[in-house]
Amino acid sequence: MSDKLIIFDTTLRDGEQSPGASMTKDEKVRIAKSLERMRVDIIEAGFPIASVGDFESVQAVANAVTESRVCGLARALDNDIDRAGDALKGANASRIHTFIATSPIHMKMKLRMEPDQVIENAVKAVKRARLYTDDVEFSPEDAGRSDPDFLCRILEAVIDAGASTLNIPDTVGYNLPQQFGSLIHSLRERIPNSDKAIFSVHCHNDLGLAVANSLSAVLNGARQVECTVNGLGERAGNAALEEVVMAVRTRQDLFTCDTTIDTSQIVSASRLVSGITGFAVQPNKAIVGVNAFAHESGIHQDGVLKNRETYEIMRAEDVGWNTNRMVLGKHSGRNAFRSRLEELGIEFDSETELNATFQRFKDLADKKHEVFDEDLQALVSDSKPVESERVRLISLKVCSETGETPLAAITLSVDDEERQVEMMGSGPVDAAFKAIEEIVKSKTELQLYSVNNITSGTDSQGEVNVRLERGGRIVSGQGADTDIVIASARAYIHALNKILMPVDRAHPQV
Ligand code: KIV
Ligand code: ZN
Repeated sequence: MSDKLIIFDTTLRDGEQSPGASMTKDEKVRIAKSLERMRVDIIEAGFPIASVGDFESVQAVANAVTESRVCGLARALDNDIDRAGDALKGANASRIHTFIATSPIHMKMKLRMEPDQVIENAVKAVKRARLYTDDVEFSPEDAGRSDPDFLCRILEAVIDAGASTLNIPDTVGYNLPQQFGSLIHSLRERIPNSDKAIFSVHCHNDLGLAVANSLSAVLNGARQVECTVNGLGERAGNAALEEVVMAVRTRQDLFTCDTTIDTSQIVSASRLVSGITGFAVQPNKAIVGVNAFAHESGIHQDGVLKNRETYEIMRAEDVGWNTNRMVLGKHSGRNAFRSRLEELGIEFDSETELNATFQRFKDLADKKHEVFDEDLQALVSDSKPVESERVRLISLKVCSETGETPLAAITLSVDDEERQVEMMGSGPVDAAFKAIEEIVKSKTELQLYSVNNITSGTDSQGEVNVRLERGGRIVSGQGADTDIVIASARAYIHALNKILMPVDRAHPQV
């Protein structure tokens, strides 16, 4: 059996299915470039049939990424497969991932199909996908609650039809580690042609067991794990990439395989994903939480100073902590700026966009002498307009004084028309948001507002996350500035521009 464990990242597809985590095309390309830097083997870039925007995002990722294989998701339907095949045309290496539900409840209630019809559709889908690429993955959705005998039948048939990866999803996060490991073991034993395919797993975290189930599957012969950065994903999320990778790397005494992930890229990918989606990482989150390698108690600190292995099983620098380095300063020129951004996978559509971002960098470097990669990422997130941006911040002035009610005066451009208002609020941020709402009248509800410093020190940029809801649709917006009221207004406007974009988007599993 192979000693290579394939890492299939689905942050851009399953991760994006988390309410509020939707990303623009440009944001997806930046995350894909960071996954490529991490040497992720396969990047699931999206569900191309979902909408024109989703198709274009998969296409953009396929064109931008050269080292990782790019995958598109398709239900077992002709149009889905054709759309995925078309979106992936520009990829260096592509994969189509097609799926159909196999559990009794899904077949009866969702698909309204008989088991034999499900097998027929699966086989047809795999054959059609093979017309576009040699690399086809098949998933029996809700495998974790499917009849193992039926799984054996359908999986044998799709291997014969040309599927080379069989992905076993625990779609609703119902399985326990030992049970899930045994399922993988028995499928590999019982399916006569199982040696012709790689077994993969895709675990959801509803019982907090996604990583444990994935690892148990690997111990039982799975050689691909589907996962997401920070464990982002539907409901409680998917298996966290960083946890799977580090568990396998750290416990090489137990695993007979390993990934080829460059683990030093883990923390920066985690920050990028949380910055773009607005999903904060909890401080005590394994590997990527700020406290993951921090030692508070005197006894621990003493132990670690004497010999780090007393309390540490991994080295912080191996996953990319403490690599914060000053990359640019106020004297850095446009070329240095552009080339550092290129190293971070950030490209500009036009010289005008580059110039505007460079000007913002200069303003930032005047206020804050050391500019780190994290500052640049935030600056770019903030400077890249969402597609079809309707609202733009022209100026903002706030007055805040002890004993006085704060006041915000704002000028916005809405559909290219300038509008100005003054509003009072309980604080300067509240006044600014009320002023924006007075002009835009979006009737959205603010679900979340948070501020974090991007680097340390009071001269750091504040990064603001805002989550807005309207009619059941949730979007998030981010803004960064050394002035947190301005960062807040930018974040609010960023989210507004997303919510004002009309959407007509299909969900793959509904
Ligand atoms: O959770 C799931 O079953 C999925 C499939 C589309 C693989 O995301
Ligand atoms: Zn899933």
